[in-house]
Amino acid sequence: MYYINENVKDLDRIFDQNSREGYLRMDLNENPGGLPEEFIKEVLSDITPEFISKYPETLEFTETLGNMIGAKVEEICLTNGSAEAIRHVIEAYSRPGGKILSVAPSYAMYAVYSKMYGREHVAVNYDDDLNISVDDIIAKITPDIDIVVVLNPNNPVGDVYTYEEMDRIIAAAKANEATVLIDEAYFYFYPNSFIKYALENDNVFLTRTFSKLFSLAGCRLGYVVGRAEGIKMVQKLCTPHNVNAFGMKFAQAIMEKDGMIEAMVAKQLDGKQYLVDTLRKHGYRVNVKEGNFVFIKPKTDAPTVVARMKEEKKILIKWYKSVGDMGDSLRVSTGERELMQVFVDALLEVDK
Ligand SMILES: Cc1ncc(COP(=O)(O)O)c(C=O)c1O
Repeated sequence: MYYINENVKDLDRIFDQNSREGYLRMDLNENPGGLPEEFIKEVLSDITPEFISKYPETLEFTETLGNMIGAKVEEICLTNGSAEAIRHVIEAYSRPGGKILSVAPSYAMYAVYSKMYGREHVAVNYDDDLNISVDDIIAKITPDIDIVVVLNPNNPVGDVYTYEEMDRIIAAAKANEATVLIDEAYFYFYPNSFIKYALENDNVFLTRTFSKLFSLAGCRLGYVVGRAEGIKMVQKLCTPHNVNAFGMKFAQAIMEKDGMIEAMVAKQLDGKQYLVDTLRKHGYRVNVKEGNFVFIKPKTDAPTVVARMKEEKKILIKWYKSVGDMGDSLRVSTGERELMQVFVDALLEVDK
């Protein structure tokens, strides 16, 4: 028999993320509206055959990014989406058979990567009103934990941490020789960041993505920030030329366009507020915290609503089982007001 890695053989992955074009996509926390077409045309207007034929060059982009986030080039590792950054931090900073701690429910890849690399995923659960106790997280940081994952804010619940809470988590991790991975995929929708912790502590890394507010999920671009020596270990694991030239070009253009990020944040948060207000007016219970997503308790059966929204209304959303005392709930990505109106109109017809 040929050798097959047992961790891979038994791994459950989701491979159904094609055929989403033409739908209003509110299932994966992308920006459902995307970037303005005019802006896209402008950015693409000077693409040359050389730009496409040569391997991507990262220095200028990393410098621009570093200036924006207050980090040096050697403190940043660019990755193919932040999913790749998370994977390499796990590969570099946890041992076979080691344990990785994160809250649950959360981004699915923490459990998937744990299994992929033969690590054990340890979950800290939310209570019924969707709060999580930092004391519970700290109690589970024991010497056999290699990595503590904290999301700021967490997807799908949207909760965040205070600086005092993060200090305590990092201190507990340090005392147990564990690495802390702070996932800020939803930074910008909630502006308080822990980036300075990653730049000041050897045992802390922080990941971010251009897939969410920057609306570049199709270009696959993310990064991890940390102290230079630690970042070097992550860099060693990356495939050669792992990031896409188009992703960097778009991200650079957004960072350099005066006021564009602020305008995008304002538009996205306005849409979110509009969605929540309108749903509540119609008697819905909504869990709204930080991030570009909310939980909605449907009036009828959650999986049926998801299926009918897809088939009848061409709208993609997700559902989660047993979300605290809300029970089975819809997780809906937010976006600009006009699209939120389309969603609410459809939901009101389907969910009755
Ligand atoms: C919390 C969190 N982290 C990381 C990611 C990965 O995003 P990407 O690989 O597109 O950067 C996601 C995607 O949904 C996410 O929700």
